[in-house]
Amino acid sequence: MRTHYCGELRGEHVGQTVTLFGWVDRRRDHGGVIFLDLRDRQGTVQIVSDPERTPELYALAESLRNEYVVKVQGKVTQRPVDSLNPKIATGEIEIYAEVIEVVNAVRQQLPFQVSSADSETVREELRLKYRYLDLRRERMRNNLLLRHQIIKTVRRYLEDIQNFTEVETPILTRSTPEGARDYLVPSRVNPGEWFALPQSPQLFKQLLMVSGFDRYYQVARCFRDEDLRADRQPEFTQLDMEMSFMSQAEIMALNEGLMRHLFKTVKGVDLPSTFPQITYADAMDRYGTDRPDARFGLELVNVSDLFQTSGFKVFSGAIAQGGVVKVLPIPGGNDQISNVRIKPGGDLFKVACEGGAKGLAYIRIRDGGEIDTIGAIKDNMTPEQIAILLERTQAKPGDLLLFGAGTTEVVNASLSRVRLAVGEEMKLIDPEVISLLWVVDFPMFEWNADEKRLEAIHHPFTAPLPEDRHDLKTARAQAYDLVYNGLEIGGGSLRIYESELQQQVFTAIGLSDAEAQNKFGFLLEAFNYGTPPHGGIAYGLDRLVMLMSGEESIRDTIAFPKTQQARCLLTQAPSDVDAKQLKELQIRSTVQDKLQEEKLK
Ligand code: AMO
Repeated sequence: MRTHYCGELRGEHVGQTVTLFGWVDRRRDHGGVIFLDLRDRQGTVQIVSDPERTPELYALAESLRNEYVVKVQGKVTQRPVDSLNPKIATGEIEIYAEVIEVVNAVRQQLPFQVSSADSETVREELRLKYRYLDLRRERMRNNLLLRHQIIKTVRRYLEDIQNFTEVETPILTRSTPEGARDYLVPSRVNPGEWFALPQSPQLFKQLLMVSGFDRYYQVARCFRDEDLRADRQPEFTQLDMEMSFMSQAEIMALNEGLMRHLFKTVKGVDLPSTFPQITYADAMDRYGTDRPDARFGLELVNVSDLFQTSGFKVFSGAIAQGGVVKVLPIPGGNDQISNVRIKPGGDLFKVACEGGAKGLAYIRIRDGGEIDTIGAIKDNMTPEQIAILLERTQAKPGDLLLFGAGTTEVVNASLSRVRLAVGEEMKLIDPEVISLLWVVDFPMFEWNADEKRLEAIHHPFTAPLPEDRHDLKTARAQAYDLVYNGLEIGGGSLRIYESELQQQVFTAIGLSDAEAQNKFGFLLEAFNYGTPPHGGIAYGLDRLVMLMSGEESIRDTIAFPKTQQARCLLTQAPSDVDAKQLKELQIRSTVQDKLQEEKLK
């Protein structure tokens, strides 16, 4: 019988005989005495096999290799002063082995060394292929344990303190419109028909409000077939919540309470009693993004009015076409950022281009306040304009002004990227600071130029602000996103709960009555049977764990994640299936058809 976990042994256990099971993390031979680091989920502990004390064990101890599974029995002993190891929690003690048994050996060469001392540089593809070994590593184990602790803390808070009920919603369902492509599953018993995997439990949680559950939550798996990034996975987990009879302010306050409790319990961090709020319009204006990283300044300044009639056509032309001119003022940027970096080919130029910009105009403020820039800008500015510009941007000698000119979208997308790059480079971001803020008053819709129609920014079940209801097309939504250090970790809204208004929103996004009936008839009907006002929110749980663990990719917070190409390297999914299976499902693959055609050619 195991008496303890390796990682839990401390000075207080000295003198006890313990039985441990674990993996050999490392074996070191020190002039005859063999030291083993034995590892389990709680950590590692040092085992000593001394040939003078237990000669019969020596040969066995010597034969052990990394990652063997062993049983060890022995006495916990205080380490001598000169071999204390303050770096590990068990570093005060060691165990003199009286029994060592090999439970299972390693029979093949390990694809990489697991011990944390050796494994930080292993390629991610290899780690994902042998994920079960990767998860033995301390860093990954800690991430998964943190994930567990976060979920457990959330459950305890929502259930025990806030009276929420967890309800599971279907995985095989109809498409829920959250804006991404669906993963589809063919129905064998209903030939030609398909289930969609849920992009979120949105419609079901609203129906649960109609049922009177009042406070619902779920740790819910969601599926979205979209382009992947470090913070996106095709299947990910939401902490999903929905509540009835609560105002937007009440829902936000409840969630602030949840976050405060979570951060205090898991990280020992005190968050403020209320989180700052910024409107969408303000966020776009000042930061160029709806998820501002407010840990540092460098706010954008709109100077369109100054350049409306400028002889510098790049600026005035952009404004004439309905665009803007904005400035990113960088204190001390004159010395720090050379022209090479902001001209074509330069790194900051490239960052701006990623946002769609074609260039990055600049003005340097020299000692004494005179400006230094290209002739075309300088020659077209009067001393008054220069004075207003410096005043507006609060620029001082030694500063650099970077300009974006073009459509509002491009200027915001490019300057917000440059802002982040400069903020990081100039070390303006204190890694210890946690910035949680709400972005509110989103517009209901944005224009989808490809499809030439309005599209819901959140989803079409979001309620408009009551005062904007008269003109849905320009209305703001009762929606709120929670932003953590510049990353959207959660988003929600108050919902529409009247079928007429819901119908109007469907019409606004270009759904005909017939289409709306076909797709959402069940929801419109449900609204007619006594629906409470309700609203909710969903957090990206993987992202939350990523931020709380300090990782840079959500792949490091998920036990078995997919690659950027949406593949599982461990099981080699997705994979081919038997022709028989396809036939049974009444599916023909266009890829197979194409291959067949090519063969015939
Ligand atoms: P939304 O689409 O904003 O809202 O999703 C909520 C949160 O889920 C996370 N998220 C993702 N995480 C990892 N990989 C992805 N592909 C991915 N997509 C989204 C984000 C996001 O903030 N039903 C609404 C919520 C509501 O209105 O209650 C919804 O799904 O952190």
